[in-house]
Amino acid sequence: MRGNPEVVDYLNMLIGGELAARDQYLIHSRMYEDWGLSKIFERIDHESQEEGSHADALIRRVLFLEGTPNMNRDDIEVGTDVVTCLKADLALEYHVREKLAQGVKLCEEKGDYVTRDMLRQQMSDTEEDHTYWLEKQMRLIELIGLPNYIQSQM
Ligand SMILES: [Fe+2]
Ligand SMILES: [Fe+2]
Repeated sequence: MRGNPEVVDYLNMLIGGELAARDQYLIHSRMYEDWGLSKIFERIDHESQEEGSHADALIRRVLFLEGTPNMNRDDIEVGTDVVTCLKADLALEYHVREKLAQGVKLCEEKGDYVTRDMLRQQMSDTEEDHTYWLEKQMRLIELIGLPNYIQSQM
């Protein structure tokens, strides 16, 4: 089914962000694993897979709307320790959340309600799962101190 060209372009832009999120979580999770932090490794490895499934849903929707999926991912920011990794991931989630919100608005304007619902679902994962979890980690670090936090993630 032919989709609205602006919606298709917008979805293509969003794919780049989801692929970046997938890869950023992938490298951070492997770094945590290398540092012996198994608990946070598992969590972040799971996030990487979830971002991959967001990209997958967008790619399938672009194909369905008779567009050509853009597979160029946005740049990633790789941290050097636990705090810079968490901060980089949080910044990325805030950025993606803004882009999804604008996408929901565009889909409304163009009357593409199925795409809108898909983006709304991804926004809920972004806000209530990924962002919320990262914000909680930053609060825990403030509360118990970095060494205790790191110990809790071994
Ligand atoms: Fe995502
Ligand atoms: Fe996310």
